[in-house]
Amino acid sequence: MSDLLSLFPPGSGLAADGTLLVAGCRADDLAAEFGTPVLVVAEDALRARAREYRRELSARWPDSRVVFASKAFPCTAVQRVMVEQGLGLDVAGGGEILTALKAGADPGLIVLHGNAKSDEEIALAVEHGIGLVVVDNADDVDRLEATGRTQDVLVRIIPGVTADTHSHVLTGHEGSKFGLAPSDAARLIQRIEHSPRLRMRGLHVHVGSQILDVEPFAESVAPVARLGEFEVYDLGGGLGARYTWADEPPTVATYLDALIGAARQHLPAAAQVIIEPGRSMVCTAATTIYRVTTVKRGAITFVAVDGGMGDNLEVALFEQRFEAGIVGRFDGPGLETVTVVGRHCESGDVLVDGVPLAEPRVGDLLAVPATGAYCYTMANNYNGNRRIPVVFAHDGHVRLVVRRETWDDLTARDVD
Ligand SMILES: Cc1ncc(COP(=O)(O)O)c(C=O)c1O
Repeated sequence: MSDLLSLFPPGSGLAADGTLLVAGCRADDLAAEFGTPVLVVAEDALRARAREYRRELSARWPDSRVVFASKAFPCTAVQRVMVEQGLGLDVAGGGEILTALKAGADPGLIVLHGNAKSDEEIALAVEHGIGLVVVDNADDVDRLEATGRTQDVLVRIIPGVTADTHSHVLTGHEGSKFGLAPSDAARLIQRIEHSPRLRMRGLHVHVGSQILDVEPFAESVAPVARLGEFEVYDLGGGLGARYTWADEPPTVATYLDALIGAARQHLPAAAQVIIEPGRSMVCTAATTIYRVTTVKRGAITFVAVDGGMGDNLEVALFEQRFEAGIVGRFDGPGLETVTVVGRHCESGDVLVDGVPLAEPRVGDLLAVPATGAYCYTMANNYNGNRRIPVVFAHDGHVRLVVRRETWDDLTARDVD
């Protein structure tokens, strides 16, 4: 069971008494200082992954950029780490533009996405000099032209590739709501090329998320290349992360061998290549620590914790499997298979369905690894949940980067 450790952020360990250590910080100390649930990010692991992506991409395609898909963990502190590591930021919408700028991102290295960009978001993008706006539809072009400003754009293509992942996180299949079928894209590209204000820089493609094989990435390149030669090709994100024992995600190197292999075959050698990893950049760098509030034994043993779908919607959204362990007793004895549930009023509020825990008791701390991707993103106030804090752990030291919401925060927007 101490194999469970391999799912925690690189550099995690066990103290002499068996307590989980994340970046040298004891899980029980973190819980005592910040309360539970708390989302703990191993800062070095985050930085190392960003560097790995940059190194591996530039080794294969020198004129290239890694752009972090902010949506995977859109907190200013995480965006700042990515900026400090020399990455650009992919943002979806006005809010992420503003947090990216606050994080110190060079506006020229920001890529704006969205299948339903508003006038306000387009205005924010052009006013702040966002480097690339990814056109998803003809209305984007109308809105961009209406600003009267010049803007570099990419056009998002549906490659017609159906990756083997949950349907809720597929984006490159025929019939996707994102992007344009190649024939529609070709017409819009012509229009943009005749626009006095828009500069048609290149194409964008993204096939989906939590993809654990490399073929769909490689397959997405040829349909894009068929639309002609451009200066920039943004080949999206989507590489899967390791959540559970069974997951064997390709390494960054293997993923890029396939993707850039296809790029070499199909794209102009002088073009710039951008990639936009999100999930695989941040997932395993973080863990959530909960407190067990109830253990209910019956046909099923339910171990209920003080969080759940208010801080982790990944299970409800696309049935993502997580693992878990009792802090201090990863190795047992007395392992029993239980269902870990949250505190929210939904039967779907399950964190882990069927996981071996060692004699779970009220008051224990429970650690769930691989919560770095999309958990902070989709945190919510369901059942009056106060969204949980984020702390960065580094070399035995910890700092709070996002505080827990207060009870007052829950009514702060009320006007009557
Ligand atoms: C356009 C775009 N790029 C990049 C990503 C990041 O994907 P992932 O987090 O799976 O790497 C997404 C997320 O779905 C996306 O929509």
